[in-house]
Amino acid sequence: MYVKNTKEILDKANANYYGVGAFNINNLEFLQAIIDAAIEKRAPVIVETSEGAMFYAGNGDFRKGARVLAEMVMEFAKDAPIPVALHLDHGHDVEHVMAAIQAGYSSVMIDASAKPYKENVKITAEVVRIAHAANISVEAELGRLVGIEDNVSVLERDATLVDPSEAKDFVERTGVDFLAPAIGTSHGAFKFKGEAKLDFDRLKKVKEITKMPLVLHGASTVLPRYVEKANKYGAKIEGAKGVPYNILRESVKYGINKINTDTDLRVAFLAELRKALYDDVSQIDPRKLFKPAMKAIKEVVMERIDVLGSTGKY
Ligand code: G3H
Ligand code: 13P
Ligand code: ZN
Repeated sequence: MYVKNTKEILDKANANYYGVGAFNINNLEFLQAIIDAAIEKRAPVIVETSEGAMFYAGNGDFRKGARVLAEMVMEFAKDAPIPVALHLDHGHDVEHVMAAIQAGYSSVMIDASAKPYKENVKITAEVVRIAHAANISVEAELGRLVGIEDNVSVLERDATLVDPSEAKDFVERTGVDFLAPAIGTSHGAFKFKGEAKLDFDRLKKVKEITKMPLVLHGASTVLPRYVEKANKYGAKIEGAKGVPYNILRESVKYGINKINTDTDLRVAFLAELRKALYDDVSQIDPRKLFKPAMKAIKEVVMERIDVLGSTGKY
């Protein structure tokens, strides 16, 4: 079923201490694989699109793209026996956020985290006012997404990671529904140069202060088995490192309820697509080449649903 407001899914996860997977899509193939996986695991799921996905799906027209993506998600969600929400990931531009709201998304993220604190508060509060009038929820980010390096000073960490003392003021002034605190993750396949670690002290403080559903961005595990397979079939991905499963489990234990994953799906899809192209050089039907790649996405999503603890939650 299509969930009109993502809050329904995340408030429940927050009250019952589990995490819900939020998976990025740009096209039909990723969507089908994600929904199939969530159905098999009887888990609630959040499908999300970036602003870039809206431009891509609309062939350059982001409003059209938002409508195409929303129609597609609603069509598949309608028959699914699990809750499926559609979220706008990292909305930087208020016009893009408006397009998602108008297309019927279940929630939006306004990401003004690169702006000075006061401006972040002002923009976020304005988006919350509009989104709440449409009865959908809003996510915002505090701090910036950069990996924790061993040799980074306390001062540098303070400058980039979430400042827990700002969290209460931010939530009260803006009225956001979910908060993404920067605790040391980053987007993409190269998250840590040394050992993978997150700042759980900051996470625990933010949870204690806000008690609201919290979001982990840059949460991909960057599974070695898919990186190796991609490299075996011609890719050149060196030094990739993600957030291991034990750290994801700990993050959920300390209050993360929405876990964003894009890179893991991209890497799994590409590894299997490369293999399929190599194995069947005479194949000219893209659908046949996509099948094993979609299966890989489904497996990755199912594995993550287990790790986050949302298996059987619906
Ligand atoms: O937050 C980043 C997501 O991986 C989306 O990336 O802007 O390339 O679609 P994108
Ligand atoms: P990854 O690059 O780790 O998959 O992060 C995705 C994300 O945070 C989307 O908002
Ligand atoms: Zn993100």
